[in-house]
Amino acid sequence: MGEVVGNKKVVLKNYVTGIPTEGDMGVVTETVRLKAPEGSTAMIVKNLYLSCDPYMRSRMTKHDEPSYVPDFVPGQVITGYGVFKVVDSTHPEFKAGDLAWGTTGWEEYSVITNFEVLFKINHPEIPLSYYTGVLGMPGFTAYVGFYEIGKPKEGEQVFVSAAAGAVGQLVGQFAKLTGCYVAGSAGSDEKVNLLKNKFGFDGAFNYKKEQDLNAALIRCFPRGIDIYFENVGGPMLDAVLLNMRNHGRIAACGMISQYNREKHEGVHNLFCVVPKRLRIEGFVVFDYYASSYQKFEDMMVQHLKEGRITYVEDVAEGLERAPAALTGLFEGRNVGKQLVAVAKE
Ligand SMILES: NC(=O)c1ccc[n+]([C@@H]2O[C@H](COP(=O)([O-])OP(=O)(O)OC[C@H]3O[C@@H](n4cnc5c(N)ncnc54)[C@H](OP(=O)(O)O)[C@@H]3O)[C@@H](O)[C@H]2O)c1
Repeated sequence: MGEVVGNKKVVLKNYVTGIPTEGDMGVVTETVRLKAPEGSTAMIVKNLYLSCDPYMRSRMTKHDEPSYVPDFVPGQVITGYGVFKVVDSTHPEFKAGDLAWGTTGWEEYSVITNFEVLFKINHPEIPLSYYTGVLGMPGFTAYVGFYEIGKPKEGEQVFVSAAAGAVGQLVGQFAKLTGCYVAGSAGSDEKVNLLKNKFGFDGAFNYKKEQDLNAALIRCFPRGIDIYFENVGGPMLDAVLLNMRNHGRIAACGMISQYNREKHEGVHNLFCVVPKRLRIEGFVVFDYYASSYQKFEDMMVQHLKEGRITYVEDVAEGLERAPAALTGLFEGRNVGKQLVAVAKE
């Protein structure tokens, strides 16, 4: 029949407008039966690590038109990426004890019936939490955006915003591995120090301390920018447009500076796209899992094992800390990849 156990979970209390706060979420305890329902294809999993990702902000708002990801439902558990261990399964490819990552709930145990994003963990010798970041969705996002959208060439000039975060820290290191010059922006001196002294960026600046973003970019890129890995949007995008070189590429990954705004800021320097012959391409990582995730995982595992990629994560311990960890992304409180440790294996 399956044991029935308590199941602590994080729920959205109400839809959010503006800046999300911890109080927009609550931790409640319900129960769950640790047995996959007969006659269904379902898995019961024990969640080990949960990923805090900026796109989750969009899901906290009610959209009149369907968004590219479904809205959360007030009173129900928040869902996102996570690493988990299978407790019971009627899915033909998963059995009890298997380790996997993909879409799950922000709770101790989840019943998974949506298998759109679900991967077996092929390298349990690497810290499992890495599958929320460097080997998971954010790492793969850095890979897709830099290599497939940015199409870098050796010697090119690369700029990354939100450079010390989950995605940015890896983009910078990919740029160095490709033989590019890379500089990044981040929101504290501690992060700027990490960029230069841990991740190997050639240049970095604290955008919160700069009076003039254009001047900061000219300082870092006297010859201009070939590839901009866009994570923030807003005034940074405007300043970057002025500094792009002819035939430059902008890989539009995210625009976090706009996520809490009711009305998005305008972009004033878009005309630069014409004379500079720029290509701006947005992408959503979900579209690339089937074609490229396996290739990425093989490459990244080799890089990690041979010490070519270094990785920083910011771990919040326990589900109670999950709301603060998620909202912290929008204040830049995280240093490196923000995740929540829910349980040991
Ligand atoms: N397209 C896709 O499929 C895809 C997939 C994953 C992620 N993304 C996007 O990639 C970007 C980075 O995600 P991540 O997971 O690596 O997050 P992250 O960088 O680890 O965390 C978010 C960071 O954004 C910065 N930030 C917050 N508010 C800001 C503001 N108003 N202006 C400028 N910077 C701000 C903060 O760093 P500072 O201290 O530097 O301000 C914060 O630490 C986000 O835009 C995200 O939406 C897109």
